[in-house]
Amino acid sequence: MSDQAVRVGVIGLGTVGQGVLRLLQGNAEEIQRRVGRPVIVTDASARDLTRQRDCDTGTVKLWQDAVALAREADVDIVVELIGGQTVAREATLAAIARGKPVVTANKALLAEGGNEIFEAARAQNVAVAFEAAVAGGIPIVKAIREGLAGNVIDTVAGIINGTCNYILTQMTEKGESFDGALAVAQKLGYAEADPTFDVEGIDAAHKLAILASIAFGIPLCFDKISVEGIRGVTPEDIKIAQVFGYRIKLLGIAKRGGAGVELRVHPTLIPDDTLLAKVDGVLNSVVVHGNAVGQVGFYGAGAGGNATASAVIADIVDVARALDAAPEQAVPPLAFQPEALKALPVMPVRDAASAFYLRLQVADEPGVLSQLTAILASHDISVEAILQREPRGGDDAIVALITSVIPQHHFEGAVAEMQALPFVHGSAVSLRVEKLD
Ligand code: HSE
Repeated sequence: MSDQAVRVGVIGLGTVGQGVLRLLQGNAEEIQRRVGRPVIVTDASARDLTRQRDCDTGTVKLWQDAVALAREADVDIVVELIGGQTVAREATLAAIARGKPVVTANKALLAEGGNEIFEAARAQNVAVAFEAAVAGGIPIVKAIREGLAGNVIDTVAGIINGTCNYILTQMTEKGESFDGALAVAQKLGYAEADPTFDVEGIDAAHKLAILASIAFGIPLCFDKISVEGIRGVTPEDIKIAQVFGYRIKLLGIAKRGGAGVELRVHPTLIPDDTLLAKVDGVLNSVVVHGNAVGQVGFYGAGAGGNATASAVIADIVDVARALDAAPEQAVPPLAFQPEALKALPVMPVRDAASAFYLRLQVADEPGVLSQLTAILASHDISVEAILQREPRGGDDAIVALITSVIPQHHFEGAVAEMQALPFVHGSAVSLRVEKLD
């Protein structure tokens, strides 16, 4: 084997890029023992080349133009860490066109444009590796793609956005409002100044698209995911959920059933004795159910410079080891042979069945509960748990319940009827409940 160094070009010297440089230098000996050759960053790009950085760029050729690095730098592997879908896409496709393997942490780029990128990479026989794109430092991509390759996987569910998990944890533990918890997350640097991508569930949906593709062997289909964020979650619902024995988490859920697949991101009540319910703060966790292994769980840092760099470097090591291997020996990027990827119908979320949590504000009058339960019964919905809170301050009482497992459209039909009753005030709050057992 050649002892020539593997040359890496890093596009983007933000938190993760700096972490990659630091770790490749700091762990160089161990990485060389793994790869069989030294791995060094020879080139890097950044918009502002004058900025002080927490890594040594003394021997690195610096570029201001990311695409130029991808097109021209004399490297063996291009690592894309700038995010977004414009320059990142152009640089990624430019590297692939030159026959350079790409390592990326860019979930948005892959979830929305991955089919094009993987097709281009296949045509050039180059690798595109993306462990860092999902759940930061947790090696979930490799685990599903390789470690669970003997299974038919039917469910992947996870807490895959640390910002939302931090906000919901604050709301649960401190009784904070959504806005209050978001402000704390922003102050601590966990949430962006514009938190839309995280709190609206879009970032989680990008990651779910990738997980579903490698779990089920389907093309990436971000646009078919049903997405609901956490802005509507209130401390009151979190408290009532706790009384019922549940925690509220933003989950990404991919399930395979007879009719196709369900792909959804939404705030979810989960039993408080499950692994996912116990994952707090900015941490991420993913559970996978396979027909041979049963349920397996993964837990760890979903973001952060070093944790994400850990996943990027794992990909660099994989790609470096395979540089001299025949293309047919490569692990297919989306876990299944490209020609074996099969689009499965994505079920409309209205048909997806689960239990539901419902909270209503009602007048405190005789017969209210019996009319509500009669409506549920007429829709063939059984009540699994129910509580009523006596009026506090105002005149209205709160009724909250958890239903049996039913398709969403049954539930919505019942809620619409309840909402039309004169003694039901304000808007009903409904959330999905998942047992994940
Ligand atoms: N913003 C993401 C999160 C990390 O909060 O988990 C990067 O995807």
